[in-house]
Amino acid sequence: MTRYEKIKADLKVTPKTWLITGVAGFIGSNLLETLLKLDQTVVGLDNFATGHQHNLDEVQTLVTKEQWARFRFIEGDIRNLDDCREAIKGTDYVLHQAALGSVPRSIEDPIATNQANINGFLNMLLAAKDEEVTSFTYAASSSTYGDHPDLPKVEDKIGEPLSPYAVTKYVNELYASVFARTYGFNTIGLRYFNVFGPRQDPKGAYAAVIPKWIMAMINRDTVVINGDGETSRDFCFVDNTVQANILSATAHELKGAQVYNVALNQRTSLNEIFRAIRTELYGDKLDSVLTPEYKDFRSGDVRHSQANISKVVAQLGYCPTHDVENGLRVTISWYINNLGGSLDYGAS
Ligand SMILES: NC(=O)c1ccc[n+]([C@@H]2O[C@H](COP(=O)([O-])OP(=O)(O)OC[C@H]3O[C@@H](n4cnc5c(N)ncnc54)[C@H](O)[C@@H]3O)[C@@H](O)[C@H]2O)c1
Repeated sequence: MTRYEKIKADLKVTPKTWLITGVAGFIGSNLLETLLKLDQTVVGLDNFATGHQHNLDEVQTLVTKEQWARFRFIEGDIRNLDDCREAIKGTDYVLHQAALGSVPRSIEDPIATNQANINGFLNMLLAAKDEEVTSFTYAASSSTYGDHPDLPKVEDKIGEPLSPYAVTKYVNELYASVFARTYGFNTIGLRYFNVFGPRQDPKGAYAAVIPKWIMAMINRDTVVINGDGETSRDFCFVDNTVQANILSATAHELKGAQVYNVALNQRTSLNEIFRAIRTELYGDKLDSVLTPEYKDFRSGDVRHSQANISKVVAQLGYCPTHDVENGLRVTISWYINNLGGSLDYGAS
């Protein structure tokens, strides 16, 4: 039995109260689905900056009435300390996911990214410390590796940040570390690499490549690849990320400010992702028709990224259940079933 299976069995017997910030977003709503299916009590906080009501509505259809009744949603803002304090009251475990993602968004509007990702983070950290929650896990980022050349990335070797977004995620880690030293408040930062899966927003200027390309290829629109397509990432299916959060929240023996890479220790190029999606959707029927359009490299992007996951495996018992291939299969089938035009993604 893996540690994850054991923890899930324990949680079913002894349910806890969780706070998920960013619950209406991609990763937040996947956390919500898993926790409600484990009969946990969940408070969710979101201001719908980039999240969607339909993500919550979908989770409602995937759980029982009794499980849904254990969820309380607060429409609120992490930039407001009172909202953070209200949401956190009485919770055991905090999974702090709310932030403004996207490197290009942060380059266009560094102030907005700073306010959500640094001011909001500090509010959450302070509220969690004052509430004396049992654990505080937060979404850190592989962008913290910046220009460090080593591959795969090891937690304690980071370079200079390459974007305002990367600065905010690094500052989160610095604050977490200062809170450990100053107040003895323990935290775990999970450095996600490129997460993908159901409910990731495919629309808008800042959409991630996998959902954007799946949608484009379903609609037979042109797929644009920034650069030569040999840029590579450690793409990680969302179920693995959910697992890491639950393992982290329940790792009570860990002290101080910990950070862990969460991915697969595998590198997949953008060209490979493009071909995998096309093959999954059309077999080899459209190989000569559906070809990508190559444009300039995007500023702020690192060339290659890959996680060394030894630490998270050894210390949290992380054991990924999905590789890129089977994660993509689940994801593509979700988009085929859900992109029939009924989802309202608004303007984001
Ligand atoms: N998806 C990835 O590949 C990836 C990689 C590295 C790190 N992360 C981090 O993981 C977390 C979740 O990302 P995601 O991909 O689910 O993005 P997402 O945009 O789908 O979810 C973020 C959620 O936070 C909410 N939010 C933003 N600002 C808020 C505020 N001021 N108050 C309350 N709620 C607010 C949004 O409305 C949204 O629902 C983020 O912290 C992100 O930086 C994601």
